[in-house]
Amino acid sequence: MQLFETVKAMRSHLFSLDKKNKLGFVPTMGALHEGHAALVKQAVEENDYVVVSIFVNPTQFDNKKDLEKYPKTLEADMALLDNISKNIFIFAPSVSEIYRKKVISKSYDFDGLDKVMEGAFRDDHFNGVGTIVEALLRAIEPDRAYFGEKDFQQLQIIRKMVAQQKLDVTIIGCPIVREPSGLAMSSRNERLSKSMRKEAAFIYKTLLAAKKQFGTKSATTVLHWVTDQFEQHPALKLEYVEIADIDTLTPIIKKQSKRKYRAFVAVYAEDVRLIDNIALN
Ligand code: PAJ
Repeated sequence: MQLFETVKAMRSHLFSLDKKNKLGFVPTMGALHEGHAALVKQAVEENDYVVVSIFVNPTQFDNKKDLEKYPKTLEADMALLDNISKNIFIFAPSVSEIYRKKVISKSYDFDGLDKVMEGAFRDDHFNGVGTIVEALLRAIEPDRAYFGEKDFQQLQIIRKMVAQQKLDVTIIGCPIVREPSGLAMSSRNERLSKSMRKEAAFIYKTLLAAKKQFGTKSATTVLHWVTDQFEQHPALKLEYVEIADIDTLTPIIKKQSKRKYRAFVAVYAEDVRLIDNIALN
């Protein structure tokens, strides 16, 4: 396993490899857990070499405190990756290496994918995500790049950006990895108290029940039911629940048999904001 901190060093190493090799890429912000590890394992299985980037991207944080509090655990991350495969290169650049003097994001038109859910609640977040992922894809030029369905809206926005920018890479979506309780794995789970972590399993339980209901009930009924469940919960506060078309991410109006839908939630547990989603059909 090798660590690179500059685009130049990373690229000159990648250029030295045989062109026949397939290159996978997993972008992350570090503080790696089993959810990230699953993406890396899949990338290792499907490619000859894998680049994992570790970069806490300032332009996707609308909250300065959140950015400052973001955990940095490079040594543990390297150990976790080293256990998965020796054919992994880590790319861990500094902020100035990526942004030079201008820590700002590009402005994209994501055809409205960024206007709902996470985009509606986190100002400019997806422009920041688009900017860093585009920069990394251009620097690394992988054959395949892996993203988790945990951040399903992000995954669809990246697909859109890659098509618009005509980048020659296959985007692969990977299933959500959960704790035994059902809670979706996230580096933010570490910030939950022990009892709150137990309580937070309620989120996935509610999504599972919503999925069951979606087979026979209207979307409005299901949305009201989910809202109600959280209103009755003493510790979890629902920020939004949405049922949306998986391609356009527009909120469902009336079920159409040929369309696929997902339910999405953002929930506060104490001051920790958790997101989750589930395929409904
Ligand atoms: P980060 O939150 O570190 O996540 C990196 C990747 O891991 C994302 O594709 C995310 O969806 C995936 N992931 C996280 N938890 C997961 C889980 N429980 N199951 C499956 N996949 C999971 O997402 C980002 O970083 C950033 O926005 C990034 C794309 C790196 C751009 O800065």
